[in-house]
Amino acid sequence: MPAATSNREHAQKAIAVRTALAGHQRELFALRFSRSERDLFDPLEDLYGAHPGFDDFRRDLIVALAEAQEQRPAALCALDLKRDLEPDWFQRPDMLGYVFYIDRFNGTLKGVLDKADYLQELGCTYIHFMPCLRPRPGDSDGGYSVMDYREVDPRLGTMADLQQVTTALRARGMSVCVDLVLNHTAKEHEWARRARMGDRQYQDYYWMFDSPELPQTYSETLVEVFPTHAPGNFTHYPDFGKWVWTTFNEHQWDLNWSNPRVFLEIVKIMLFLANKGVEVVRLDAVAFMWKRMGTRCQNEPEVHQLLQALRAASRIVAPALIHKEEAIVAPKDLIPYLGRGKHTGKTGNLAYHNSLMVQFWSALATRETRLMTHVLRTHFPQSFVNATWGTYLRCHDDIGWAVTDEDAAAVGVTGFTHRAFLADFYAGRFPGGFARGSDFQSNEDTGDKRTNGTCASLCGLESALEQIDASATDAAVHRILMGHALIASFGGIPLLYMGDELGFLNDHSFEANEHLRHDGRWMHRPKMDWTKAARRNDPLTIEGRIYAGLHHIFTRRRATPHIHAANSTEIVDLAIDGVFAFARRSPIGPLVCIYNFSGAWRSLSEAKLRHAGVTRYFDMLGDAEVKLVDGALPFPPEGRIWLV
Ligand code: GLC
Ligand code: GLC
Repeated sequence: MPAATSNREHAQKAIAVRTALAGHQRELFALRFSRSERDLFDPLEDLYGAHPGFDDFRRDLIVALAEAQEQRPAALCALDLKRDLEPDWFQRPDMLGYVFYIDRFNGTLKGVLDKADYLQELGCTYIHFMPCLRPRPGDSDGGYSVMDYREVDPRLGTMADLQQVTTALRARGMSVCVDLVLNHTAKEHEWARRARMGDRQYQDYYWMFDSPELPQTYSETLVEVFPTHAPGNFTHYPDFGKWVWTTFNEHQWDLNWSNPRVFLEIVKIMLFLANKGVEVVRLDAVAFMWKRMGTRCQNEPEVHQLLQALRAASRIVAPALIHKEEAIVAPKDLIPYLGRGKHTGKTGNLAYHNSLMVQFWSALATRETRLMTHVLRTHFPQSFVNATWGTYLRCHDDIGWAVTDEDAAAVGVTGFTHRAFLADFYAGRFPGGFARGSDFQSNEDTGDKRTNGTCASLCGLESALEQIDASATDAAVHRILMGHALIASFGGIPLLYMGDELGFLNDHSFEANEHLRHDGRWMHRPKMDWTKAARRNDPLTIEGRIYAGLHHIFTRRRATPHIHAANSTEIVDLAIDGVFAFARRSPIGPLVCIYNFSGAWRSLSEAKLRHAGVTRYFDMLGDAEVKLVDGALPFPPEGRIWLV
């Protein structure tokens, strides 16, 4: 495409006038610009090339990059160099993520610093602050309804506090992750307010319709995210006569990413946050960013173009920043978020492994690992370029039972029945079951039900403690430890949700809060209980047992180089009922990780172990030699082992 002024000429001009920058910084910008120019502009030309404002947009975008470069603090420029020299930093075995709402952890941003020792003792290197930018007043979907991306929620502190906290945590080896909600803004956001007042320019930032016909046609193929408390995907506002696209809640207005101005605004915000010391942006609900009539409007190819372009913008100005893409979707749709085909190595660095999460719970309930082995072996590549998983057992959201009919059929079960069984089991409706969770968003049309609950309650700790049953308590603790050993070894950054290290149970106090009551996910977002945390080193308490177990797992993870995420993860079918295994193929030899979901003793024969690649009978997790008995390794219920 013959352009009057080339991108590089624009870039040279834009950076030359930023005299606050030293010569070498301008040179570095030019180098990084040429490194990522095609990664940035190939997708943008595809998406917006035909737009009448494209040339202006292109120039404005380059100026925005140069401006952000000029504003980047020196310490972060140094971090950029460091990360460019060590691009695998987030794939290393010493990575451990910890996720919390700032107010629920210790009140405010400054309060986080008062508890930095706690985070460090646990071994955390990645701290995800749940949404902390200024939300709308009242219900804000846990902060996912943002009215100002350049301000911190005043209840938590200020932007200066955020900068101070990211700096202080970085000095202790911890990188801060912040949510960037880019599928929608709050309806109280300045752009939305102006759109509502009739400003055409800002109406184009959203999906607004003058009549219900188009919304109706789109709706024919859309699914509902919150069918119970926010049914439908559009909202009619009689006061200004528009139908607005609202995939999530009524107060969350979907942004129109087919408008290049939206891209520009978000790039500026993203780099603004990077310049405050944020090292990971969690790009929220990315699957929904592109709309196409006649589809579910999820995972459209343009989403991946947009995500690559956003990543390229970061690589030019702030290579220390990595991108985590939140897409809770089926395996075939999930993989592209870590880069496939032309996007390989150029898009998200992290994505939630929601299949591993679902399969963990499915295997735990059924004591069966055939489905888990099938799904994880059939659908997933063994490694990614410049990307890896966020592995987790649960997060702040519900668990959706994403098992496809085809996968279920492949192991001889019916998809619908299996999904219904899992929902029943984890809601505590299954006779003799151990779990204590609850249903979320039961969809009467589809029969679909999702599940809420903390890790410990879903693992059986709540029911065991209630029954004062010591052996049920032991089993629950071992389930928790097995799950964490699994996410610590699979490959990726294990993400620990606050309180799971202490076995926190479901918390029903949200039911008394008028802004939270309608959203059952608050049940598994309990407040930090520092009295319980104080018992973490007492082995006679439940908190002490779980904390010590988790601490040990993460300590051993750091000492096990095979776990580096660049090493492939190959699912191994040992063909032993209820046992799940995989081998981490590393240059220093394989690490074979084995988990016993069967609820009973199993015997791992020497022949099978050798076949999987075990040569020495040393358990890296237990940090000890293991002894075979009559040519086999006796393996207890909830057993977990990492053999070299
Ligand atoms: C994401 C968040 C979820 C939120 C939704 C809308 O999926 O994880 O909590 O409700 O986006 O922003
Ligand atoms: C579903 C959606 C996800 C959303 C979540 C909210 O999992 O795919 O994007 O945030 O529901 O609970």
